[in-house]
Amino acid sequence: MAELIERAVAGHYGVGNLRSRIFDAIERSGLDPQALRPADLAPVDEFHMGGRGATAEIVARAGLTAGDRVLDIGSGLGGLVRYLAAEVGCRTTGIDLTPEYVELAQEFTALTGLSERADFVLGSALDLPFDDGAFSAALTFHVGMNIADRATKYAEAARVLQSGGELVIYDVMKGPVAGMRFPVPWADSAETSHLVTMAELRDLLGASGFEIVEEEDRTPTVLAHHRARVAELAAGAPPPPLGLHLLQGSTAKEKSQNMIGMAEAGQITLGVVIARKV
Ligand SMILES: C[S@@+](CC[C@H](N)C(=O)[O-])C[C@H]1O[C@@H](n2cnc3c(N)ncnc32)[C@H](O)[C@@H]1O
Repeated sequence: MAELIERAVAGHYGVGNLRSRIFDAIERSGLDPQALRPADLAPVDEFHMGGRGATAEIVARAGLTAGDRVLDIGSGLGGLVRYLAAEVGCRTTGIDLTPEYVELAQEFTALTGLSERADFVLGSALDLPFDDGAFSAALTFHVGMNIADRATKYAEAARVLQSGGELVIYDVMKGPVAGMRFPVPWADSAETSHLVTMAELRDLLGASGFEIVEEEDRTPTVLAHHRARVAELAAGAPPPPLGLHLLQGSTAKEKSQNMIGMAEAGQITLGVVIARKV
């Protein structure tokens, strides 16, 4: 069952011609692919609500330092891993299910000169190929909603963390109002969408040996960010060539509208949880 879901998830994200679409957009943005800085890629490599701004705020709250050894679970194109390597200076590994994302993450990391502090592995959050206690911190942004077996996801995160190590989660959660619309950025149908409420997440984390350190409902921040972006576009700002639309195919607009509509209706929330392995 888990394998079938994982195949469907990787099929959802892997669009096949992503490399050429992104490099074409890099050139149309006036950027030199051989002189890229990590921030140049932020419009496309931070596949979560609020992008690099959200990354900066959440990472700052986690209090990571250059001495940390960090795992990013479901690392996508590697924006968060490169952010940590460049801005915090810590050694970071990303793991992701989608081969096309892992290959591009490695290439972008080499192009931005960060390969010494950042690397990527193809694999599953449900079967992490790392030793017990290998990491001092782990992050996972907008990944849980693809995972039905959350108990295993958090148990695996706990296993690879040292005691006292923190797990930083930023996810789409089930809101107080019932109902889902599809497609959304993470799924075309209910088959690969597995949201939990904040209360369910607390219970799952407790059962895996974590204590909650901090919680935030980022929904108002995310909606304000979205409204500002819509206003810019309505004022005539041209849509930039480099953006998350490149990852989402022909239904990109519908996916975004459904997600924002559900956040406004209370059907989903955007939550941050920082939990410590006891
Ligand atoms: C919406 S993207 C977020 C990517 C990245 N965390 C970011 O914020 O830019 C979700 C990612 O989770 C990955 N993913 C989903 N289920 C996974 C699993 N079981 N194991 C590893 N990665 C998974 C997908 O391949 C995809 O790259």
